[in-house]
Amino acid sequence: MKLSILGGGGFRTPYVWQALLRDTGSPRVTEVALYDVDEARLHTMTAILVELADGFPDAPHLTATTSLREAVQGSDFVFAAIREGGLEGRRCDEHVALDLRTLGQETTGPGGLAYAIRTVPVMLDVARTVQELAPTAFVMNFTNPAGIITEAMQTVLGDRVLGICDTPSGLGRRVAGALGLDHTRVQMDYVGLNHLGWMRRVLHDGRDVLPELLADDARLGRMEEGQVFGLDWVRALGAIPNEYLFYYYFNRDAVRSIIDSGTTRGDFLARTQGEFYAKAASYGPGVAAFWKETVERRSASYMAEANGGTQDEPTRDREREQDPAHQGYAGVALGVMAAISRNERQTMILNVRNRGTIAGLPDDAVVEVPTMVDANGVHPLSTEQPTLHQVGLMAQVKQVERHTIAAALTGSKQEAVLAFALHPLVDSVTVAKDLVTGYVDRIPEVAAVLNR
Ligand code: G6P
Ligand code: MN
Repeated sequence: MKLSILGGGGFRTPYVWQALLRDTGSPRVTEVALYDVDEARLHTMTAILVELADGFPDAPHLTATTSLREAVQGSDFVFAAIREGGLEGRRCDEHVALDLRTLGQETTGPGGLAYAIRTVPVMLDVARTVQELAPTAFVMNFTNPAGIITEAMQTVLGDRVLGICDTPSGLGRRVAGALGLDHTRVQMDYVGLNHLGWMRRVLHDGRDVLPELLADDARLGRMEEGQVFGLDWVRALGAIPNEYLFYYYFNRDAVRSIIDSGTTRGDFLARTQGEFYAKAASYGPGVAAFWKETVERRSASYMAEANGGTQDEPTRDREREQDPAHQGYAGVALGVMAAISRNERQTMILNVRNRGTIAGLPDDAVVEVPTMVDANGVHPLSTEQPTLHQVGLMAQVKQVERHTIAAALTGSKQEAVLAFALHPLVDSVTVAKDLVTGYVDRIPEVAAVLNR
């Protein structure tokens, strides 16, 4: 099978590659095409992957290209993780919002909308290319904001594009771990949109064990979510919120602490990854080890900064993606490919079309829910209806997402203002207008869409 990786020069590509190398099932991926707009990064990544494949005689055949068509042509699966506008775009997403004292974050709040506006047109082009050159392929979209991008791509590809995220499965594993249960035997009842969801029940042998966890100071207190949200708040909700809900429930605190720290996650990554790619370009042998070391240092030093009081992310446990048992989003992607290509039926929490799963949301809205995956594709499971709080927040944000997609498709600033103004984390229409102006001024890729 052929897998193309869009954004293949990115920092996390080796995780996907390593998961492929370890995969011994059949059929398996035998051909990988990396696609990226940045030739130097492709070159570096190729060198890293070649080194990582050492000792794996049946490693997939690897090619790298700056031609989207060449990469997509004949793919069975397409994995998409691109960052339109690069890390400089991410920094602007964050800073324009922070300058207006609103949340400056990669995917949540205004930053995520600016990111979506410039990314939707690019990913729609990807969708059309897949439709033309790989008409039976499934697209696993990790490109953020994953819910919005997946929904836009579905207008072309229908259910052959699904959105993936590592946070729901990560939460599931932490819950199972905290309770000392085998996560494969546990059924997670999770509902939400991408980066906006709740773990409502955790079934083990038919019994909901979440109440036990919520009542247990020691166990809940050891979990990241217990620490970040506070035990009392998790108990009050009666559900464990996705880590990104920190930005909603503790919005002022989050905004203040990012502003006070004087730096953002994007600033940090732009600096550290910039250094990495600059050095790696002429590294020679040992470049894979250099990558590993950088990943480790990146998590460690970011957490050190965070512990020094500059935490701007609810997630402290960033090194978890290195845990081979978890494998972060690479693990989710591999699971999806195995389920579809081998008919290995699996339930995973994915971003798929609602189709009546959540009564208060449109059928064609992308939602993040437990989904059965097999050779016939994705089948969201029926689920208990969310509370009014949950459905209300989801509906509000879904409306915002739809205005964002409309703005991206038409170039309408009015649609953009609607999107920003209706966002629950933007508290005034005046601020929304300033956000639109700020993003157009600061980010050329946003200007290109909204100044057409
Ligand atoms: C998690 C989220 C992703 C997000 C990433 C940011 O994995 O699920 O959607 O892009 O964190 O990580 P970074 O290291 O880029 O801040
Ligand atoms: Mn995610």
